Amino acid sequence: MDDGFRTIIEPFRIHSVEPMRMLDRAERQRRLAEAEYNLFALHADDVLIDLLTDSGTGAMSSEQWAAVQRGNEAYAGAPSWFRFEAAVKELFPFRHVLPTHQGRAAERILFSVVGGPGKVVPNNTHFDTTRANIEATGAEAVDLIIPEGRQPRTEHPFKGNMDVAALERLLAGRGGDVPLVMLTITNNSGGGQPVSMANMRAVRAVCARHGRPLFLDACRFAENAWFIKTREAGYAGVAVADIVREMASLADGMTMSAKKDPLANIGGWLAFNDDPLAEQCRNLEILTEGFPTYGGLAGRDLEAIAVGLREAVDEDYLRYRIASVRYLGDALRRLGVPVVVPFGGHAIFIDAREFLSHLPPLSYPGQSLACALYVEGGVRSCEIGTVMFGRQVDGTEQPAPMDLVRLAVPRRTYTQSHLDYVIEVVERVAAKAGDLVGMKATYLPGRLRHFTARFQPLPH
Ligand SMILES: Cc1ncc(COP(=O)(O)O)c(C=O)c1O
Repeated sequence: MDDGFRTIIEPFRIHSVEPMRMLDRAERQRRLAEAEYNLFALHADDVLIDLLTDSGTGAMSSEQWAAVQRGNEAYAGAPSWFRFEAAVKELFPFRHVLPTHQGRAAERILFSVVGGPGKVVPNNTHFDTTRANIEATGAEAVDLIIPEGRQPRTEHPFKGNMDVAALERLLAGRGGDVPLVMLTITNNSGGGQPVSMANMRAVRAVCARHGRPLFLDACRFAENAWFIKTREAGYAGVAVADIVREMASLADGMTMSAKKDPLANIGGWLAFNDDPLAEQCRNLEILTEGFPTYGGLAGRDLEAIAVGLREAVDEDYLRYRIASVRYLGDALRRLGVPVVVPFGGHAIFIDAREFLSHLPPLSYPGQSLACALYVEGGVRSCEIGTVMFGRQVDGTEQPAPMDLVRLAVPRRTYTQSHLDYVIEVVERVAAKAGDLVGMKATYLPGRLRHFTARFQPLPH
């Protein structure tokens, strides 16, 4: 219920706690140098507030833990599988559901079948693993976001929308090379921005005209549905679960990471209606993930996801979730920190290119800012910019369209006072932003660079 209170009320009370450890600044500096300035290389125990990702880092509910006890570990046809399948189909009624150990496994199976040299896959914005899995097959991954989606300071209620005219042009020219069109809801790499139902309908119509299937990368489907409910005309009175079913009805299939909105710590799935595709994907799944009624997951994981899916569309939960992310964004904006607006569903994105405007993009301002947040207060964030996306297909290095630092908020994990602390850390870094130096890469792998790249601070 929204009774108009100013305070964000977390719609749960704490059930068990996990102590955190405070390092001092000198220790943090040492740990960061040992990690060669890559925050993925830190020990999580050395992090105070971990905003690296919202993926798999949420807190499960007492109902989910109870469901874990019901986990049945039969190799084939376990009751846990049937409960999982029913929960997925309740929201996404596709004929075939293939569980996977996480989202990228679903991507790998799908694109191993439909990708390949000469193919092109459009998306509003491909997430990094999606792009990498497409490119690994020799296919091309193309981002067709609306122009506002590339402008960090432009207000637009649905900045994740696809540029429908650009899609039309691509399909008119190369339709035969497009195995499927994807829409990422919400658009993680573009700032966690939602896609409107109207845009999904328009994309669907273009796909139908050209006979191309539409797939959702639906990791944050519930947050996307909440934005539709609160921002799109005609949806205020529609239940979030019904909005989700409507989104699903416009698509032919989906990939999913259950580590996001389904409130689980592991899991994912691939789902669609196409029977021949199902046969090929199932055979691949058996090769790498496991039998198709567990797909790399334990029965207890399937149970946790089944319960999490129902909790994900709870409207009190979603109201709190979106309000707490907005709370962080509003406070940073009041401090004059350049943030991507409007705020996304799962994270606040700082525009590091503007925040550290004295640093050229090829000296990785996002990486520099992420490191500074850790040294200042033990806050771990993630660069989403030139480190992640700077490598071109021909191997050269170019500035990414934006240099962002993502403060991803794990679900049901941190309280308002944790967020107040993060705000204070950013404020302190802002006070000395002009002193921060850029980064030089000492190692950059060819793909998914941000996970294992290594850096050194440039001299003053
Ligand atoms: C939009 C999107 N797609 C796909 C994935 C990949 O999912 P996973 O990390 O479970 O492999 C992610 C993960 O962050 C994501 O945000």
